[in-house]
Amino acid sequence: MEIFRKVSDMQAFAKNAIREGKKIALVPTMGFLHEGHLSLIDRACKEADVVIVSIFVNPTQFGPTEDLDKYPRDFQRDKDLCEARGASAIFAPEPSEMYAPDRSIWVDEEKLSKKLCGKSRPIHFRGVCTVVSKLFNICLPDVAIFGQKDAQQALIIKRMVRDLNFPIEIIVSPLIREASGLAMSSRNKYLTAEQKEDALSLSRSLKTAEKMIAKDGLSACGAAVEAMRAEITTCNGEIDYIECLDSSTLEEPTDKTTELLIALAVKFGTTRLIDNILIGV
Ligand code: PAJ
Repeated sequence: MEIFRKVSDMQAFAKNAIREGKKIALVPTMGFLHEGHLSLIDRACKEADVVIVSIFVNPTQFGPTEDLDKYPRDFQRDKDLCEARGASAIFAPEPSEMYAPDRSIWVDEEKLSKKLCGKSRPIHFRGVCTVVSKLFNICLPDVAIFGQKDAQQALIIKRMVRDLNFPIEIIVSPLIREASGLAMSSRNKYLTAEQKEDALSLSRSLKTAEKMIAKDGLSACGAAVEAMRAEITTCNGEIDYIECLDSSTLEEPTDKTTELLIALAVKFGTTRLIDNILIGV
């Protein structure tokens, strides 16, 4: 497995693979890999001959009061995991390699990124779209794999690829949970044992909501969200949002809606967790 730190070296590797007629898959990550990330690598290995995993804690997607400095990192462990799962290369640049001090171009999605997480993280998706565009130009993939864990991110990346004509297929891979139901996340590391127990209210309440909507349809959305609020608040969660939206537009569901996204962001102590579920209607 190759490790690249420089943009030019990564591009040379990718161009060479393309010359050899190989299909390239990219799995963008911020590292501190867990089974959720590894499931994306597994999917990438099924899709392509060459699998590139990028590991870059992207400063431009963190707000000024967010956890950029304390975001967990363990490159040696990540490297071993990527190698064991069959990745061909890791791209792990320093921030200075990715961003010139006088950079002045951003990729900004203007609609979907105003909703859900965009309300409390106003610059987040601009940072994500910009870095993912750069990673696409550096790794030259045919296909890129994203997780359903970040449902809004996946939707925005698909929109970006459509609107900017990136010749890249976007695959969204299922959300991986711990046996307890907790959605796997690098940020779970911040939780105390007690907070981890409290955080089980997220997946539990999503399941309850799913049952209510399976029984009574769209008309149960309001009551389902209220039931979730009650359960999560009882478990000491500080709710940023819980919303039940059309999964393809992130607008309020209508009679044309075929799939609902119930998405939430909740803080336990200082740790902000997200989770979601898709429900066919
Ligand atoms: P990160 O949070 O490291 O996640 C990298 C990828 O792993 C994302 O596509 C995310 O949705 C996926 N992922 C994380 N947890 C998952 C889980 N439990 N099940 C399935 N997939 C999961 O998302 C980012 O990094 C960044 O915003 C990035 C796209 C790399 C741009 O900087």
